[in-house]
Amino acid sequence: MIRVTDLRKRFGNNEILKGITFEMPPQTVLGVIGASGSGKSTLLRCLNGLETIDGGTVECNGVRLEAGLSHAEYRRRVKELRLKVGTVFQHFYLFPHLSVVGNIIEAPVHVLHSPKKNAETEAFELLESVGMKQAARRYPGSLSGGEQQRVAIARALAMHPALLLLDEPTSALDPRRINSLRILLRTFVDRGHTMIIISHSMGFLGGVSDNILFMEGGVAVEYGPTDEVLNSPKDPRTKDFLKQAE
Ligand SMILES: Nc1ncnc2c1ncn2[C@@H]1O[C@H](COP(=O)(O)OP(=O)(O)O)[C@@H](O)[C@H]1O
Ligand SMILES: [Mg+2]
Repeated sequence: MIRVTDLRKRFGNNEILKGITFEMPPQTVLGVIGASGSGKSTLLRCLNGLETIDGGTVECNGVRLEAGLSHAEYRRRVKELRLKVGTVFQHFYLFPHLSVVGNIIEAPVHVLHSPKKNAETEAFELLESVGMKQAARRYPGSLSGGEQQRVAIARALAMHPALLLLDEPTSALDPRRINSLRILLRTFVDRGHTMIIISHSMGFLGGVSDNILFMEGGVAVEYGPTDEVLNSPKDPRTKDFLKQAE
């Protein structure tokens, strides 16, 4: 279970997240929408421990971050949390000096201490499922944006994260690729993963998400089943946002 309760985050005097609360059952997808600057990426960064939180709690399968922990305890929990939460960043950040398969086995070998041979076998399976097996020995610099993204997804999944976070995975994709990404992500949900996806593409989120969270100015304005939020939003701020997103 993923649970976020009254999550607060400040940068200096600026409160960027003003008490965000939601809960996600396993094997569901949460789509996060909202204008630029509304705090979506900051929310994801609090969920994977890249930002310390100033209030409330973040909980993922029994690991809990909260404000007020000692520095050492916070770091210990973040380390534990990172084993459960994988992230695909907007710019992928593949290691340029490693081949595709090298990128994928890097964390399983060095963090989980998986034997290299096992990690490679699994890497090939993952590459097969993201349609990139033929590129296993290539280097990231020779791949297109869409191909790099598939490798980044495979790399994150190689750590078997319970929760996968994706920050704007559709921003550089054409409509055909957006549709195959949707199908790909749903396959991994069926295999047991839970996901939070930030996107500006309502068509994509409509097809991939179980629930939608609409954020404005660091506030969770509306949260509910995808169809309800996208097609009959309750809050006037959600209505306005969706009108402009059309
Ligand atoms: N490290 C930081 N230091 C100061 N302000 C930040 C930092 N990261 C994000 N912000 C601010 O927090 C707000 C929300 O940013 P962000 O979470 O990136 O929004 P979104 O992803 O919805 O576009 C923005 O006003 C941004 O400038
Ligand atoms: Mg962002």
